[in-house]
Amino acid sequence: MHIWQFCLELETLMNQSMHEVIDQLHQDDKTHVWHHLTPGAAAEAGLPMFVEGEGLVIRDSQGKEYLDASAGGVWVTNVGYGRKEIADAMHAQLTKLNFFASSMAGVPATKFAKRLLEKMPGLSRVYYSNSGSEANEKAFKMVRQISAKHHGGKKSKILYRERDYHGTTIAALSATGQTQRRAQYGPFVPGFVEFPHCHEYQSQYELSEDKSYGVRAAQAMEEVILKEGPDTVGAVILEPITAGGGVILPPEGYWQEIQRTCKKYEILLIMDEVVCGIGRTGNWFGYQHFDIQPDIVTMAKGVASGYAAISCTVTTEAVFDLLQEEAGDELGYFRDISTYGGCQAGPAAALANLEIIEREGLIDNCRIQGERLLAGLEKLKAKYPIIGDVRGKGLFVGIELVTDPVNKAPVADAITVGIAARCKALGLLIGRTNRSFTAANNILNMSPALIATDADIDKILSILDKAFELETTNE
Ligand SMILES: Cc1ncc(COP(=O)(O)O)c(C=O)c1O
Repeated sequence: MHIWQFCLELETLMNQSMHEVIDQLHQDDKTHVWHHLTPGAAAEAGLPMFVEGEGLVIRDSQGKEYLDASAGGVWVTNVGYGRKEIADAMHAQLTKLNFFASSMAGVPATKFAKRLLEKMPGLSRVYYSNSGSEANEKAFKMVRQISAKHHGGKKSKILYRERDYHGTTIAALSATGQTQRRAQYGPFVPGFVEFPHCHEYQSQYELSEDKSYGVRAAQAMEEVILKEGPDTVGAVILEPITAGGGVILPPEGYWQEIQRTCKKYEILLIMDEVVCGIGRTGNWFGYQHFDIQPDIVTMAKGVASGYAAISCTVTTEAVFDLLQEEAGDELGYFRDISTYGGCQAGPAAALANLEIIEREGLIDNCRIQGERLLAGLEKLKAKYPIIGDVRGKGLFVGIELVTDPVNKAPVADAITVGIAARCKALGLLIGRTNRSFTAANNILNMSPALIATDADIDKILSILDKAFELETTNE
């Protein structure tokens, strides 16, 4: 046998066995893995199995490439896939020391906290845990303990806004304003109270001439505070820009009114930066666009771009001081732990992630490319009447789909699902509201990694154009 024949046979054999291995993996996945947010029938039909990624491109087990404009599906991979520098930093830390509980000091945790706080004037303490939900749970526990220690247990209620999402655990879900996400998971934790959303495109107020929409929407929070009794409300939690609830930007004047109201009634302002934090909106943090000063900021996802599971609850010194042991109250300090808040690889990855963002100027790039993306989406809006609104900040944008631009009624879920599916078939991954609201899952979202180039943005736009064309002509 010639050597070339031998090589050919070997290659055929290897490919064959490779296919068998992949088929088996898919089979095992269907049999054993229970997928997030996915109905069984969809999983049974077969899900893509992603196997490698670099930059914004991700590849599945069949070798198909996708441009990922969803940052790992859920706004995570801010610095993109395949960052060896982050893996190396984690490797170096893990081979030196992998873990010790955060009740003791750690080198990467200390270094990252210091660097992070440089970006957050007015805040001074970092509390580590592993997920966005958990970071919010810590904030809720702080509020409840402050109420117990300093207000006789009375100032314990936590307000949240319709359409915002704060996580999957029962307390975080109790603070979530999304009907379908909550459905069938009650009863919920007492003491969480909803107030109306601020989505100006789906306006819900008749405005008097002297009032802006933003001020009117923020006053809806004050109305709820007054109804509940200001001395019973300890905190309000808000996303700076609502993410999963539909990429909702606060209208002009909204945040100033929210901040004023919180100060007036001594209510702590918790800012959920789990999605917006670490550059996503073209600033280190979403709240920094709006000239406000939160008391507690939570973050996860982009903190280590998905290379490690890490989240932070960051507070002012005043909040920290309220939760210290005092004479006669030995239980008076924050007695909370998150085991994996002691994983040393998390802050090591977060530190490398932050250094990449700084060195490569990704915050500026995010702003510039975000503007390019929005400008392109405006053109698509002019072309397809089904696009009622496009909006966003930085590389965090949404498209609201309506049956017609005047009455703004949401399209059926199937249309939103259909456009996202067409994009996927054309090699583009985007996000969408996914069984979040009753009859209003009509928003597509895009959040490519902050490294996106002009060419990436143009490719996203041209695939979206094609997907809209196919969907609206029913091809
Ligand atoms: C704004 C916001 N907060 C909190 C969370 C919960 O984060 P995790 O899924 O890491 O618990 C999410 C998740 O998508 C989120 O979008």
